[in-house]
Amino acid sequence: MFNKIIRPRRLRISENMRALVRETTLDVKDFVYPIFVVAGENVREEIPSMPNCYHLSVDNAVELAKKISALGIPAVEIFGLPEYKDEIGSSAWDMTSPVQRAISAIKKSVPELLIVGDVCLCQYTSHGHCGRLCGSYVDNDETLKLLQKVAVSQAQAGADIVAPSDMMDGRVAAIRAALDENNFANVTIMSYAVKYASGFYGPFRDAADSAPQFGDRKQYQMDCANSREALREVELDIAEGADIIMVKPALAYLDIVSKVREKINLPVAVYNVSGEYAMVKAAAANGWIDERRIVLESLTAMKRAGADIIISYHAMDAANWL
Ligand code: PBG
Repeated sequence: MFNKIIRPRRLRISENMRALVRETTLDVKDFVYPIFVVAGENVREEIPSMPNCYHLSVDNAVELAKKISALGIPAVEIFGLPEYKDEIGSSAWDMTSPVQRAISAIKKSVPELLIVGDVCLCQYTSHGHCGRLCGSYVDNDETLKLLQKVAVSQAQAGADIVAPSDMMDGRVAAIRAALDENNFANVTIMSYAVKYASGFYGPFRDAADSAPQFGDRKQYQMDCANSREALREVELDIAEGADIIMVKPALAYLDIVSKVREKINLPVAVYNVSGEYAMVKAAAANGWIDERRIVLESLTAMKRAGADIIISYHAMDAANWL
């Protein structure tokens, strides 16, 4: 007799059967691990809202980079807390600042590890905005000139990839031109093309001391209600010369990741941001969730949505679990 029941469960019957038909796999080579560097020596202070993430002096950042590389993670992204802030964020391109010193020290001792520099001004400006102010407006075109200096200084220090996260218009073209003029034609641009104005950055702003001193970032970061606009941002950044396109945050924006993936032929990165990390860590610390399961499930979902690259504070744990 003809059996009318169609049985998808056949393909779930054992671990090997599930493995055979699995559509998405996480790999340690998908990850980028973010590091926060500070001035001083032998500093290692845990960031309160980001358990198991630390403010590290350059010496300790180098030690961590060795461990990251030994785990098989291909890249780190460097964020810094500068020693001084001013109106224009000039410590962002100071070659003696923690970020530039960390980039060159890590490049020297772990040359194969790819180094991503975050190109922005908010950690370096006294007002905490991502660019140069004109009254209370962030002046787009004046800011581009400063971002060019930041990108070139990071390339000079040894960054393989620069990642502009400021959301100024035209910054990818401006940075590409400045890199090329300074003989850095091979430095890659990973653009935070689709960066939403998000509450999920809260713990990072504590970690990087980068909260805006007035207002918010809605003049330049995207409105969480929009998705067509994301595709427009992506098109523009590709036209300007971006090599890798990033969507940020990750979990609440996987529909965007998926749309971008379908539209373009460049690698897509997602940033699994500080607030996403903090929520998991807090719930896990309370015994409310199984951290390992939740983390691997979330990272797999990012990959399934279409991400090729995942920037995540969970990367070292995940590398150990895979
Ligand atoms: C700098 C920058 C931010 C993040 C990465 N680069 C903060 C912001 O835009 O407020 C957020 C990263 C995170 O939350 O983990 N502009």
